Amino acid sequence: CKVRRYDFRVVLTNTTKLCSTKSIVTINGKFPGPTIYAREGDNVNIKLTNHVQYNVTIHWHGVRQLRTGWSDGPAYITQCPIRPGQSYLYNFTLTGQRGTLLWHAHISWLRATIHGAIVILPQKGVPYPFPKPDKEKIIILGEWWKADVEAVVNQATQTGLPPNISDAHIVNGQTGAVPGCPSPGFTLHVESGKTYLLRIINAALNDELFFKIAGHNITVVEVDAAYTKPLSTDTIFIGPGQTTNALLTADKRVGKYLMAVSPFMDTVVAVDNVTAIAFLRYKGTIAFSPPVLTTTPAINATPVTSTFMDNLRSLNSKKYPANVPLTVDHSLYFTIGVGIDPCATCVNGSKAVGAINNISFIMPTTALLQAHYYSISGVFTDDFPAMPPNSFNYTGNNTALNLQTNNGTRIYRLAFNSTVQLVLQGTTIIAPESHPFHLHGFNFFVVGKGFGNFDADNDPKKFNLADPVERNTISVPTAGWAAIRFRADNPGVWFLHCHLEVHTTWGLKMVFVVDNGEGPDESLLPPPSDLPNC
Ligand code: C2O
Repeated sequence: CKVRRYDFRVVLTNTTKLCSTKSIVTINGKFPGPTIYAREGDNVNIKLTNHVQYNVTIHWHGVRQLRTGWSDGPAYITQCPIRPGQSYLYNFTLTGQRGTLLWHAHISWLRATIHGAIVILPQKGVPYPFPKPDKEKIIILGEWWKADVEAVVNQATQTGLPPNISDAHIVNGQTGAVPGCPSPGFTLHVESGKTYLLRIINAALNDELFFKIAGHNITVVEVDAAYTKPLSTDTIFIGPGQTTNALLTADKRVGKYLMAVSPFMDTVVAVDNVTAIAFLRYKGTIAFSPPVLTTTPAINATPVTSTFMDNLRSLNSKKYPANVPLTVDHSLYFTIGVGIDPCATCVNGSKAVGAINNISFIMPTTALLQAHYYSISGVFTDDFPAMPPNSFNYTGNNTALNLQTNNGTRIYRLAFNSTVQLVLQGTTIIAPESHPFHLHGFNFFVVGKGFGNFDADNDPKKFNLADPVERNTISVPTAGWAAIRFRADNPGVWFLHCHLEVHTTWGLKMVFVVDNGEGPDESLLPPPSDLPNC
């Protein structure tokens, strides 16, 4: 195993897109940021130095961080922010994972421009469990705002109004042409007869996305750095924070093919509905040859999303067994939704809040991991409820009850190595939306999913405990539920939140604390000496 060292300098960079120029926060002047390459088992050292006037932290989304929660990155959860002029060394080992992940800023909305790919190759000499591709290509999907993104979120927070939507979707940092502003869009160059491994990442803040290439099916082989059974499809559905590796065979002779990216939102409120235009271009294609076009699914094509998600299965081979917990120590049922709270300074006298089991999470001012490690009292309370306060029935008229939210920095405590079943129930109250939920510190198995109310008596009988897909982020369907299982084998403080940044901002988040185990390798390592203070 090697040590992979990276220098990440946070700097301001002037960038022009959609015919307007603004200064954005980047790593080393790059957008998207630099790719981290490593092999399974490697140690990764990233020295982050903050040269801007914003506080910064970076999260290595999906990296398990076994016993190294100090390097996980969410601001005020596992660390205090890295202040202007300060630096911090993120130091972790890539254990038991290989595939594609992403890294992104985890404070305010800075991840709009601070994000990039993590490529974890198998250990030397270990082949992929699928035919070796000729080439590998990273495809990072995102959004672009012409306005300053920090101003967008600040305005939303102050007024209580929904934030402005983005102005375009982007592929590897490039928008397509929009009316009045020509732009070639990103082009993926391919050679006829070759096979490509596409490492597709959704780095968007607020949009779940469809991805499709005209005239080509692709075969999904891995999601969230866990291998899957090969799944051939013409459309990928990918939520923010999720990653998908897919094989593309360049089986045409020449030509230019549209690569389209469009948003999914099953109840369309306000969304950036500009389809990103990128192209697949075969070597030898004559200049100006017209592209082969395609259309992505309708914006509210819920069946496409559920078919895609339901067909994903973990590889579950001898070499890569799916170790699904078969027994459950903690059975949790979390309603996830959006409510309304009074707000004196807000335009309408009220503001939207996100709530899990009617609790809207309040960000602490001391990092929770430090509070946990040093037993600092008064920072969080141990009383996050396992169930919602009112029995929930989304078909019934219980809106008023479900709109009542409480606040708090509340955590749910798990004993080391206990097993957890968590049913995430979409409530459809106020903003009926699918919620991409992300759990830090673990991979989980998606053992069940459905529409309507979760039926605690009958639905578990249908759970897939054999080869459920393993991931770190799951889209919980509107008016539906997803059941996940994981083993609490990672001591520390772990964030669970909606990966739509607007919902995280509104409080749709909570925290698990996993206590140390008794064994020699079962406790959180001590904090690094350069850990920032709050
Ligand atoms: Cu990718 Cu807590 O986030």
